Amino acid sequence: MQTSSVYDAIGGEETFRRLVAGFYARVRNDDILAPMYPAEDFDGAAQRLQWFLAQYWGGPAEFNANRGAPRLRMRHVHFPIDSAAAQRWLDLMGASLDDIDEETIPPAYRAMIWDHMQRVAAMLINRPD
Ligand code: HEM
Repeated sequence: MQTSSVYDAIGGEETFRRLVAGFYARVRNDDILAPMYPAEDFDGAAQRLQWFLAQYWGGPAEFNANRGAPRLRMRHVHFPIDSAAAQRWLDLMGASLDDIDEETIPPAYRAMIWDHMQRVAAMLINRPD
């Protein structure tokens, strides 16, 4: 029997695509976050985040294949991330998660994904308040 992953359990690629699309649609209009992201490459940024999340939750290892080891703290050092920026990232991602119905992402999976995002966001803070 094949071992199932969170990735498969919540609808695979399509769910991660929706989650990341909803997040970036909000980032584009955000006063704190929009200036940090590459205005000319929002689609590329969305692709990279989708690769990472899908891989982390048991989908294809496309982040590693295309970008190498995640090393997220290192990759974020050039962005000024204080606690307000981290909270905003979580607010926008939480709203995008809430757009996806519970049939697709059941509460137990949502809690796992949310817990991971909160831990990573806290780890990425690199500026004092
Ligand atoms: C704490 C607040 C955060 C801020 C302000 C932030 C900001 C950014 C920015 C500006 C980029 C560059 C976009 C690009 O061109 O790829 C980026 C990339 C990325 N972020 Fe974040 N981020 C945050 C939290 C997170 C969290 C919580 C995760 C994972 C759960 C994450 C995962 C990534 C990944 C995978 C990339 C692409 C890295 C690459 O391929 O080079 N970020 N982030």
